[in-house]
Amino acid sequence: MIEFKNVSKIYQTKSGRVPAVQDVSLKINTDEVFGIIGFSGAGKSTLVRMMNGLETPTSGELLIDGKSNDNLSKNQLREQRRKIGMIFQHFNLLWSRTVLENIMFPLELGKMSKAERVEKAKHLAELVGLSDRIDAYPAQLSGGQKQRVGIARALANDPAILISDEATSALDPQTTDEVLDLLASIKQKLRLTIVIITHEMHVIRRLADKVAVMEDGRVIEEGTVAKVFTHPEQELTRKFVNVETDTGPNEDVKPVIGELLQKYPEGQLLQLKFHGDQVKMPIVSEMLHQFPDLQLSILQGSVRQLQDSSGSIGSLFVQLVGSEEDIREALKFLNTMRVETEVYNHE
Ligand SMILES: Nc1ncnc2c1ncn2[C@@H]1O[C@H](COP(=O)(O)OP(=O)(O)OP(=O)(O)O)[C@@H](O)[C@H]1O
Ligand SMILES: [Mg+2]
Repeated sequence: MIEFKNVSKIYQTKSGRVPAVQDVSLKINTDEVFGIIGFSGAGKSTLVRMMNGLETPTSGELLIDGKSNDNLSKNQLREQRRKIGMIFQHFNLLWSRTVLENIMFPLELGKMSKAERVEKAKHLAELVGLSDRIDAYPAQLSGGQKQRVGIARALANDPAILISDEATSALDPQTTDEVLDLLASIKQKLRLTIVIITHEMHVIRRLADKVAVMEDGRVIEEGTVAKVFTHPEQELTRKFVNVETDTGPNEDVKPVIGELLQKYPEGQLLQLKFHGDQVKMPIVSEMLHQFPDLQLSILQGSVRQLQDSSGSIGSLFVQLVGSEEDIREALKFLNTMRVETEVYNHE
């Protein structure tokens, strides 16, 4: 477990004090994928550098498995660092070494024989899907492949914690998803705590169990991904979440809405928000069964999968046409099924 207790980090610079991290308290449990999201300058990398012992907190306490880095000798600190694997936005590979040699690099400080190192590196290359490229040089690889090397190298010392600092930020969306899938499969195969730093909610949605939102050095909101996506509390969190969820009908749906409004001026435009297991339940058909005189037109909809255990989030824009009473009762029914409804006023 990684535990931040009222941790602050203040840099003293020529132009004054820079409070990079302010009074952060966080618990990251073992075997969890924990996401930290925030805009540039929020203090995410500073938080990471304190985790791997490259920086010490100005105040507060940081415990890894109950132990503070402060009390460790140089040797113990080095050992501790070996238990933390890091992957970076710009891969940080050695350009004059092959894929296999890059993966072997962190093993050179250990006690393994050359043959053992080669075997271990080959195994890791296989784990990240690069068995056929072990003799290539980084310059001959695509961005996604370079990051796979970065991941294999980060896993070389069998770390207990893997920290990814914007590891997908330099990749296109499809390659990003491939790398995220790889990290998800690694999480399944190895017992690892993964801390993932990003400014993209998409990365959080695909991979994380929990998320903390940072702004100006502070954690302003945290919780399970399912909760934060469905009930974001802070304005900044809403901004991040809205990129990933439907906030309104798309441009190409608007003419359809216009047509429907002309045809059924009394119809009610609604957004229904589903989350968790509701996505799998026949709630809409049950509603129409209970209110057979209601008509429902679907205008736009989407369901997005959160990382496996926490379900999905869904959004449906619909027009309900029927008597005022039926519509009111139908909304009540949706409410009892814990589907959130928002009346959408078309301007
Ligand atoms: N070594 C340093 N000396 C002085 N100020 C620093 C130092 N490192 C970081 N800062 C400042 O601390 C704040 C937080 O920086 P940090 O790199 O942790 O943010 P970040 O959230 O990782 O940003 P990005 O998304 O751009 O990577 C920024 O204002 C930054 O300028
Ligand atoms: Mg950073």
